[in-house]
Amino acid sequence: RSIVILISGRGSNMEAIVRAAQGEQWPAKISAVISNRADASGLEFAAAHGIPTEVIPNREYATRDRFDAALREKIDAYAPDLVVLAGFMRILTAPFVEHYKGRMLNIHPSLLPSFPGLATHRQALAAGVKLHGATVHFVTPDLDHGPIVAQACVPVQEDDSEEVLAERVLEQEHVIYPRAVRWFVEGRLALDGARVRLAPAAA
Ligand code: GRF
Repeated sequence: RSIVILISGRGSNMEAIVRAAQGEQWPAKISAVISNRADASGLEFAAAHGIPTEVIPNREYATRDRFDAALREKIDAYAPDLVVLAGFMRILTAPFVEHYKGRMLNIHPSLLPSFPGLATHRQALAAGVKLHGATVHFVTPDLDHGPIVAQACVPVQEDDSEEVLAERVLEQEHVIYPRAVRWFVEGRLALDGARVRLAPAAA
């Protein structure tokens, strides 16, 4: 099976997935890492691990539709079974999302449906929640609202800053995202209408 990962920056979730795929010998390969920014530092890690990298600068496209069309063409050249959004900071158009229906995952740094959108750790601190976390979900046209695949939670401490809280959440992201991707490539995870189906592990 083939996986394409989209990033915009640091790419630590991509890195966790690549390490798991290689270390745990998944029945899948990471076919490409694609970024909308040439300066995404994660591209270096991917290249150093022998993974083809591509940059499609969104700024060079006049409209979202054109950018998404170019991105789709690039992705589909690798014929992926799964597209993984890992800190990919672009809102995707509905036709693009439809095209990858049931085969595109995202990770969001909050316990959805709480705190969709940006600055999730700031939102959590402002709300005074005692538990915060991360969510892996299938991507649907409704931003940050797709069917939930996996979640992890962390405590929020009295004196947390946004950065400290983000770090605590990120550690859990690196646990649940590789796990969810592995479920998918093993054929255990699927989207069935609006529901997530997860089959038990083979004995
Ligand atoms: C992560 O917190 C992810 O949940 C969010 O953006 C951040 C990306 O971090 N969507 P990285 O690029 O994977 O290190």
